[in-house]
Amino acid sequence: MGNEYQQRREQLMAKIGDGTAIFCSAPSAVMHNDVEYSYRQDSDFFYLTGFNEPQAVAVLAPHHKEHKFVLFVQPKDRDAEIWSGYRCGVEAAKQIYGADEAYPITELDEKLPQYLEKASRIYYHFGRKRAFNEKIITHWQKLMRTYPKRGTGPVAIEDTSTVLHSLRLIKSESELELMRKAADVAVEAHLAAMRFAQPGRYEYEVQAEIEHIFRLRGGMGPAYPSIVASGINACVLHYIENNRQMQDRELLLIDAGCAYGYYNSDITRTFPVGGKFTSEQKVLYEIVLEAQKKAIAQVKPGNPYNLIHDVAVRTLTEGLVEIGLLTGEIDKLIEEEKYKPFYMHRTGHWLGLDVHDVGVYQHGEDKPQILQPGQVLTVEPGLYIVPDTKPAEGQPEIDPRWIGIGIRIEDDVLVTPTGNEILTERVPKEIGDLEH
Ligand code: GLY
Ligand code: MN
Ligand code: MN
Repeated sequence: MGNEYQQRREQLMAKIGDGTAIFCSAPSAVMHNDVEYSYRQDSDFFYLTGFNEPQAVAVLAPHHKEHKFVLFVQPKDRDAEIWSGYRCGVEAAKQIYGADEAYPITELDEKLPQYLEKASRIYYHFGRKRAFNEKIITHWQKLMRTYPKRGTGPVAIEDTSTVLHSLRLIKSESELELMRKAADVAVEAHLAAMRFAQPGRYEYEVQAEIEHIFRLRGGMGPAYPSIVASGINACVLHYIENNRQMQDRELLLIDAGCAYGYYNSDITRTFPVGGKFTSEQKVLYEIVLEAQKKAIAQVKPGNPYNLIHDVAVRTLTEGLVEIGLLTGEIDKLIEEEKYKPFYMHRTGHWLGLDVHDVGVYQHGEDKPQILQPGQVLTVEPGLYIVPDTKPAEGQPEIDPRWIGIGIRIEDDVLVTPTGNEILTERVPKEIGDLEH
């Protein structure tokens, strides 16, 4: 793996030429008062270094003669380490993480200029750490003040995402290994949840089953707050209270994924708590399932990313017309977005080090991203008949028998050279397999 971080840095350095890229570690997050969450490194920083401590800065300066990769880190400090855990320190930053030079973070202001003064531009992402953003601007301003005398220096700051995120979008074999692990652990958790859920149990009990398995199987924990939404709660897209008692004849929507070795899975299944779909639930479920399968069938190299959403929307719209929730001509309903009261989100996103992973979906208005082997994305259509929904203009009143049903089905899909591989396929989604 060590070599792979180096390869990534080299790939990035080839792109930035005589620029200098600066990456800042993620801040330590405070839970409340001075109690901290466990630390999670910034994904760009981790992708390029594998280094997972706060208070660190990584610099890539391909044009520098000796120091192309520089780390600024927290120095060893026995007393601080007793309280907050082991630090790698300056020396090991070179030995373990392969930095050509390393300094204590306290020397950043003094040492940084030597890596910027000959750079043609700075690559930096203005993040949430305001003080650090200010620091970069201050260094830049200083260099620009002396630019007339030297005739060299960074004349612009460019966001690192423009050069880095196209690399992160294509997953390597070792990344895929971790993503398969993240998927497998979440598959197991969903299977356990399906066995466990029954009328009378509480949503949080199901959540506990799921998250127990995440940790038990070596995962870092949930990739995002687990959604365990029974009955009408399934109509709230990001429902995370998870405190309701589940009833017979209701659906349970579980959207839960696991973080494993910094990579994520993201799975949704919807199934009847009591083992039998009502006829309305079944009809809507079949529409969503068909939309999901047809959308997944479009995941193959060469297809535009947008096609996945377009196919899902078309299938959902056709289904809604068939059952009388929409009326009219399909193309017109799609063009006028009449499906939106029942399907208000997109059909998926890139998946990787971030759950909503980086990478562009569209290169300008008429140039969609084209699917390529090594990309991983979610496919997650749904239908939500939210209470109090006003039908779109010219559309029929909503028959009360549909109201309160929420369904989503989500899988994680890898684009392969010949088509796709569904990493989360082992969680059942056929009606026959969900009923008992
Ligand atoms: N659970 C987050 C998402 O599906 O995007
Ligand atoms: Mn998702
Ligand atoms: Mn999800």
